[in-house]
Amino acid sequence: MSALDSTALIAVIGAGAMGAGIAQVAAQAGHPVKLYDNRPGAAAQAVAGIDSQLGRLVEKGRLQPEAREAIIARLQPLEAIEGLGDARLVIEAIVENLQVKQALLGQLEALCAQDCILASNTSSLSITSLAAGLARPQRVIGMHFFNPAPLMGLVEIVSGLVTEPTVAKLLYETAKAWGKKPVHARSTPGFIVNRVARPFYAESLRLLQEGAADCATLDAILRDAGGFRMGAFELTDLIGHDVNYAVTCSVFDAFYGDFRFQPSLVQKELVDAGRLGRKSGHGFYSYTVGAERPPATELQSPLTVASCTVEGDLGALEPLVERLRDSGLAVARRAGRGLIHVGDATLALSDGRLASERAREDGLRNLVLVDLALDYCTASRIAISWSADTATTARDQAVALLQRAGIKVTGMADLPGLVVLRTVAMLANEAADAVLQGVASAADIDLAMCAGVNYPCGPLVWAEQLGLGYTLRVLENLQRSYGESRYRPSLLLRRSHAQGGRLDD
Ligand code: NAI
Repeated sequence: MSALDSTALIAVIGAGAMGAGIAQVAAQAGHPVKLYDNRPGAAAQAVAGIDSQLGRLVEKGRLQPEAREAIIARLQPLEAIEGLGDARLVIEAIVENLQVKQALLGQLEALCAQDCILASNTSSLSITSLAAGLARPQRVIGMHFFNPAPLMGLVEIVSGLVTEPTVAKLLYETAKAWGKKPVHARSTPGFIVNRVARPFYAESLRLLQEGAADCATLDAILRDAGGFRMGAFELTDLIGHDVNYAVTCSVFDAFYGDFRFQPSLVQKELVDAGRLGRKSGHGFYSYTVGAERPPATELQSPLTVASCTVEGDLGALEPLVERLRDSGLAVARRAGRGLIHVGDATLALSDGRLASERAREDGLRNLVLVDLALDYCTASRIAISWSADTATTARDQAVALLQRAGIKVTGMADLPGLVVLRTVAMLANEAADAVLQGVASAADIDLAMCAGVNYPCGPLVWAEQLGLGYTLRVLENLQRSYGESRYRPSLLLRRSHAQGGRLDD
């Protein structure tokens, strides 16, 4: 299947933030584009806005002036919807309201050719519902761009119950030809990104609520150890808490109150207070003039250490050994259970149990748990927690060990799974469940999370690197700690682990 020819007329309806961006993308790809908005003058205004955006690219030398003129010449603002009849593909980006969108699609079906594809940029409505009642529901599909559309790579191609597979394939190839990274998804609540990303926010919100650490510290851990571009608090401040909270509530409701998606009271309180984030000048952080972001907390050890003993295979923590060696530390090895001994302290990668619980169950004294890092060779910060019986000297020895390797160490309350580990385990769990339910393939979900929300690694590849068995154990331990169905492991993780450790999508 090949893409729509670049001579094919594309129509975009709704000339707001998304519609204007989509029209620009299609025009830049060479298509003639008609843009319509029911607000008089809005379409022309949007084209003028695109022209000034392109002007900035010309100023920076990233676009030739002739190319700018050609793109603008291909964009035709319309004041009447009747002028869209000759379009091959219509993409609607109007107000997010089921009835209004359904009415528009009905009107379009009457106006456009039989084989015209009607695509919706909806971020939350069911494509199946949008298509219901139309004469040709098989030609209706979701084409979900991310904001800002000209810059964001991801496009979710969302099929409803009766969408023709050839339509999905055609739009997939077309999005690719437009320079995008398309993925296929089935129309289910939140599609891929808005579903799989929920735990990224939810776990940080829960950790904050349970006193693990403050916002700035939790954000720093996700950035400096997890490799995420932003922590959950700075990111939701940017998105807007009203928007982020509404998406969580809509996914939670759509899944009939599944506790996996339970909204946070902490975030609700911010919304209630009008602290919506950057746009209102205050969210988790203050954005008033001169306001400074509080620093992340960091432990300082008064001790120095010269050697440690590594017992057994450390699994995902293993790359840390090389870094310790490179820092001049003498590292001895012996067989055993995957632990690092330094002075009186014993360090281990968290497995989702409380430090105090694991110390008692495994008979370990002075136990210090280490959080997951995307890459232990380069992580600039790592979070730790420790069992109640850990002596201050032992904890300081553990901190000194990591500091020697140039790693900042952040101490947390003893909560299960620390920060990066529980976040990654829960992202992978949601992704696995989406694969299990046929929402999308494992590869497309990983691609969507990297291209749509800039994750440093797809959650499923990350879980495979950690080990599916290990990820499963972390989730089981979280579930045991909280006694909640929120942490129940996906059957796909359990089955893939039982079948040999690779995801069987
Ligand atoms: P917006 O409010 O900036 O623009 C919507 C435009 O549609 C307005 O110019 C409005 O006049 C026009 N409009 C409303 N009803 C219309 C109708 N019946 N006929 C023609 N024009 C009509 O909204 P935005 O942010 O561009 O969102 C549009 C769609 O894209 C929504 O479905 C939204 O859920 C979705 N979306 C939004 C994203 C975002 O970050 N803003 C990201 C991805 C999807």
